[in-house]
Amino acid sequence: MSPAKKNPYRKSHIRAAITGVCGYVPPDVLSNAKLAQMVDTSDEWIVARTGIKERHILTGKGLGTSHMGAEAVRGLLAKTATAPGEIDLLICATTTPDFVFPSTANLICDMCGIRNIGSFDVQAACSGFVYALTIAAQFVETGKYRKVVVVGADKMSAIIDYTDRKTCVLFGDGAGAVLLEPSRKYGIIDSVISSDGSGMQHLHQKAGGSRLPPTAETVAKRLHYVHQEGATVYKFAVARMADVAAALMKRNYLSSQDIDWLVPHQANKRIIESTAERMKLPADRVMITIHKYGNTTNATIPLCLWDYESKLKPGDRLLLAAFGGGFTWGGAYLTWAYDGR
Ligand code: UT7
Repeated sequence: MSPAKKNPYRKSHIRAAITGVCGYVPPDVLSNAKLAQMVDTSDEWIVARTGIKERHILTGKGLGTSHMGAEAVRGLLAKTATAPGEIDLLICATTTPDFVFPSTANLICDMCGIRNIGSFDVQAACSGFVYALTIAAQFVETGKYRKVVVVGADKMSAIIDYTDRKTCVLFGDGAGAVLLEPSRKYGIIDSVISSDGSGMQHLHQKAGGSRLPPTAETVAKRLHYVHQEGATVYKFAVARMADVAAALMKRNYLSSQDIDWLVPHQANKRIIESTAERMKLPADRVMITIHKYGNTTNATIPLCLWDYESKLKPGDRLLLAAFGGGFTWGGAYLTWAYDGR
């Protein structure tokens, strides 16, 4: 019996296939050398502990996450020769929406000339893109929609404290978008999304939501920035990223030889290496962009796909794995649908 038939989670014969990908990073680069002038850190420490050499930062006045998401979606529509009117649904995974409401997905649609369709944001921190992909796939697999855009975008620089060396060296800004279409041959075969809310204390933004609305006091106490207990989050990230990859491999009867590419969330090169090690995957089958983009939260996975697109062939088997605040984690097993060259 083929692995696909044995998988109890795979019911549909129509799969949601990624038929295009596009990314966007803003032009301004924040190097480790520049950060070393801002806080007590060094290029050596950052590279050794995280693998990051530089990250891109969105600096234009009045520009939010939607600006980068719209750039990625415009590029996606152009390269896939898709008219805005053909899109049936747009989902944006983001932790740094332009506003509490309306959704960033709404804004991206408007900026790209996409009108009168369903659009909404997904909030699952760094796992958001895998969550949004999983949601989007359902609409394609059921036959309800034929062209769905999934965006992962974050302007992390908006919520980073550039006086805190423990967090400010990690994050960057960026966006990526994929087009999902029905396929009988390729696409998403299986996915996992999971969460554990007791992890909140270790990684969150203390103020700005309904529990602690913004006041002069919350601003003065610097409560609108990312609070991360790095070492604790690291331990969970290593375990959960590897667990989700192992679970997907086990229930789809995959060995390391069956995986062409691991597409991991880019939070720390050491976390990525330990996930690959547990999967017994060599480094040349692991997508890495952390050195040049840092942790762009929801954008890391689509930016990896965009960067490695030219190496991808139809039928290549990809395993996506992510971990983030919440805690949240997730993964997806899919076959690539087109020749990226
Ligand atoms: O994407 C969402 C999920 N997030 C993650 O997966 C991130 C997970 N965590 C990590 O990647 C790592 O924990 C960090 C990269 C954040 C930190 O690396 P670490 O090896 O866990 O370092 P640490 O926090 O245990 O700190 C070790 C030392 C400390 O000094 P002392 O107390 O030993 O004297 C820190 O103060 O390194 C110090 N340190 C720094 N030194 C120079 C922390 N940040 C810096 C820095 N430059 N930027």
